[in-house]
Amino acid sequence: MLKGKHKNYQNLYTYMVKPSHPQLHQLEDEDFIGFWEEDGMGILFFHCQKEQLIDNLSKKYEFKIYDKQVIPYREWNENRFPKPIKVGKLTIAPVWVEGNWDLVFDPSVVFGEGQHPTTAMMLELGWELYTKFEKPEKVLDIGCGSGILTLFWAKLGANVTAIDLNPLCVKVTQHNLELNGLRNQAELKQGDILNLLPIEADLVLGNLYRLLLLKLFENEHFWKAKYYLLSGFSLDMEKELLEKISTLPLKILIRRTSQNWVCWLVKKLS
Ligand SMILES: C[S@@+](CC[C@H](N)C(=O)[O-])C[C@H]1O[C@@H](n2cnc3c(N)ncnc32)[C@H](O)[C@@H]1O
Repeated sequence: MLKGKHKNYQNLYTYMVKPSHPQLHQLEDEDFIGFWEEDGMGILFFHCQKEQLIDNLSKKYEFKIYDKQVIPYREWNENRFPKPIKVGKLTIAPVWVEGNWDLVFDPSVVFGEGQHPTTAMMLELGWELYTKFEKPEKVLDIGCGSGILTLFWAKLGANVTAIDLNPLCVKVTQHNLELNGLRNQAELKQGDILNLLPIEADLVLGNLYRLLLLKLFENEHFWKAKYYLLSGFSLDMEKELLEKISTLPLKILIRRTSQNWVCWLVKKLS
């Protein structure tokens, strides 16, 4: 995340370490961006080179360094450099872009910089749900990433439960809620959604991957809400996902595609 003298991102200095250590999330260094932890290993992100610090930490926390890289921020997230976007009447911009925006956010190094077709469709169809169908009061954001969807729904007045497996995503989402004065409209949880259901909501957001969607679809606790916005799957995966829900009392109200990606707005029939 951006803090102190750092107002935007230029180059990312990454250090892949193994095994991971919980204290690495708490580093106080002014050039520290965050720690991405997954499957027992992790990546430390900095704004500049940190050889000495990494060396000291590796002795203290007994990890090995497996890889070091310098990556221009413009190339991070498959070159999807964050830019201001407009969704319905709301404008959302990276925190470093000057302007009079409804929402600002620090995209950091997690997914949810707003440029991916799936995120864009989740936002667009969210606006269509809000303006044409219903204004949900409780929203569950599964896999909140940067928190961009959580911010959007909190701004529209909903109470949001935002969950992510990746602790860095939860930190970034909290930071972004605070940036917009929306912290008290969201509850944040770190963990695997499969261990956290059921969670009460009128609308469930799931921009996830195929295997997780398939697991969720067969979980009765997942199907407790009235509306679902689902994406993260491509056209060739759609048939399998459709078959999985074919016997459930559901109606796809809107199906949208963009660059081979699909997004559904689903209503549960009672
Ligand atoms: C494609 S990103 C979506 C980010 C953001 N919601 C958006 O639409 O741009 C998916 C997110 O789901 C999270 N995730 C993956 N598996 C998960 C699980 N089992 N439980 C909770 N979150 C999970 C990932 O860490 C990632 O941040």
